[in-house]
Amino acid sequence: MAFLELKNVSKSFVSSRSRSTSLAVRDFDLEIAPGEFFCLLGPSGCGKSTVLTMLAGFEHPTGGEIRVNGQPVEGPSKDRCVVFQGDDSLYPWLTAAHNVEFGLRMAGMPSAERRQKVEAALGLVGLSGQGSKFPAELSGGMRQRIQIARALVIQPKVLLMDEPFGALDAQTRHVMQHELRKIWLATKSTVVFITHDIDEAILLGTRVGVMTAGPGGTLRDVVTINIEGERDRLDPAYTRYYAEVHGMIRDEVAKSVRAMAA
Ligand SMILES: Nc1ncnc2c1ncn2[C@@H]1O[C@H](COP(=O)(O)OP(=O)(O)O)[C@@H](O)[C@H]1O
Ligand SMILES: [Mg+2]
Repeated sequence: MAFLELKNVSKSFVSSRSRSTSLAVRDFDLEIAPGEFFCLLGPSGCGKSTVLTMLAGFEHPTGGEIRVNGQPVEGPSKDRCVVFQGDDSLYPWLTAAHNVEFGLRMAGMPSAERRQKVEAALGLVGLSGQGSKFPAELSGGMRQRIQIARALVIQPKVLLMDEPFGALDAQTRHVMQHELRKIWLATKSTVVFITHDIDEAILLGTRVGVMTAGPGGTLRDVVTINIEGERDRLDPAYTRYYAEVHGMIRDEVAKSVRAMAA
């Protein structure tokens, strides 16, 4: 049964200055089963973040319908946790640990249990012992990892991630991809993960959706990645998937570059 459903979803934005409308996403159809790790891949500006903010309930479709567990999405919910692009959504006046703890405190969890969960979540993102620091004392990459810990600690039914590793250096990114894969294998939570990195999509996704070039992108194709357990870039199956997805995305990037030049 579909857990997340996007039925013929479109989104246009009205410019407040010129009063003109622009189409950000068109005719987007997708069903995601519970426990899937769905990666959405596409060139810059094709509408990936717009799809995610609609799934989160921060924006509403201007056409079509989005359902979660059979219910129409009417707004944000604590069952759908978002990790945004960039690292500036932490509370600067709270320590790293208190930022991670915030959602648990709001949910009324007793403090001993909270402390234990926060320590475990900081450990998962490689920041054990850094909890007493304030965001301003941490690097951008560390702040981004605090955001991820803050989402993981809640164990939401749905985890929505918008290029969460985009700003990390290559080494940290590889470590985080590996950790996220392990966490997902252990928890099998439903994840929608936005990226423009083919490599990342194939390392993490149960399926990879490729969007057409924007503006007004839609879903072009979905590739199922049948590699169990930990994934390895040297695996011949990985290389085959890479070539397949690369072919699709190359066409779309070429279109988007032509559109920008026009
Ligand atoms: N709040 C907004 N108001 C107006 N236009 C927007 C808004 N959000 C996104 N857009 C436009 O929608 C298109 C898709 O954007 P986005 O979803 O951010 O793409 P992506 O995440 O794939 O790079 C772009 O043309 C962008 O300028
Ligand atoms: Mg985006």
